[in-house]
Amino acid sequence: VKKIAVLTSGGDSQGMNAAVRAVVRSGLFYGLEVFAVQRGYAGLINDDIREMDLRSVGDIIQRGGTILQTARCKEFMTLEGQQKGAENLRKRGIDGLVVIGGDGSYQGANKLSQLGIKTMGLPGTIDNDIPYTDLTIGFDTAVSIVVDAVNKLRDTMSSHERSSVVEVMGRHSGDIALYAGLASGAETILVPEVPFDLDEVASRMASNFEQGKRHSIILVAEGVGKGEDIANAITERNGIEPRVTVLGHIQRGGAPTHNDRVLAGRLGDFAVRKLIEGESGKACGIIKGELVLTDIGTVVNSKKEFNMELYELAKRLSQ
Ligand code: F6P
Repeated sequence: VKKIAVLTSGGDSQGMNAAVRAVVRSGLFYGLEVFAVQRGYAGLINDDIREMDLRSVGDIIQRGGTILQTARCKEFMTLEGQQKGAENLRKRGIDGLVVIGGDGSYQGANKLSQLGIKTMGLPGTIDNDIPYTDLTIGFDTAVSIVVDAVNKLRDTMSSHERSSVVEVMGRHSGDIALYAGLASGAETILVPEVPFDLDEVASRMASNFEQGKRHSIILVAEGVGKGEDIANAITERNGIEPRVTVLGHIQRGGAPTHNDRVLAGRLGDFAVRKLIEGESGKACGIIKGELVLTDIGTVVNSKKEFNMELYELAKRLSQ
């Protein structure tokens, strides 16, 4: 490849800017011409593409969001949309594309590679729900935000001897709830991957209070249901009225942690090097600290395994 482009797609995540920076700077370092597509696949269809230089990605490593903006683009799910996108790249002689995003973004990248564009996927989502990588860019920051919020809630919950239900993001994945729950000492973690019994949750909570616990935190992944509904169901069972906090999009903003920046830098550079080596239709990931490539088709057709070991550990430590 001689000319490559980069885009961000789907829900944004902290560290996407650091990944864009890495793709642009590594591409230029290796002598490529590098372009950026604005607003994800929507910009690809609308030909919103510009050339980047070293300075175009200055002062963004520390910023949340994505300077390239992002969109969830329905039109790109059609063959017509995909062909239009491929054509807009081809007419500039761009033959490589790095797509930073989640599952839906990978499906688009897979289609483009079938149309002859050399594509690389980088895992950018706070959900950590992409298989064939231990971590996604943004997850570490989102978990830190939840842990910080729970620390604050603990202060006031403990003063009032109250309980809190905290609803966190993760449509299909409980990883944010799991890791933040383990790190913040939540009493209960409810995730879509593991069935649970609300009677048991409510009675454990009541007996913990009887035995002198001064507060209790229940972390609920949004994939399980609304925090409000869980709180009501608990009140019906044990009479305790938990306060409800929905953290929402706060979890997707703010400066990325150093872990997310380093991950973004490594993955962005890896994607560029692999494109230069002639790879295409691949997803970049990190497994046990090592950078890995997997067929993007395999990734989109798999589901990430939930870490039951950590889930059991969180249970043991929260008694
Ligand atoms: O996929 C990332 C994510 O933040 C999910 O955790 C959440 O359910 C969803 O995006 C929210 O989407 P939107 O920003 O479109 O409301």
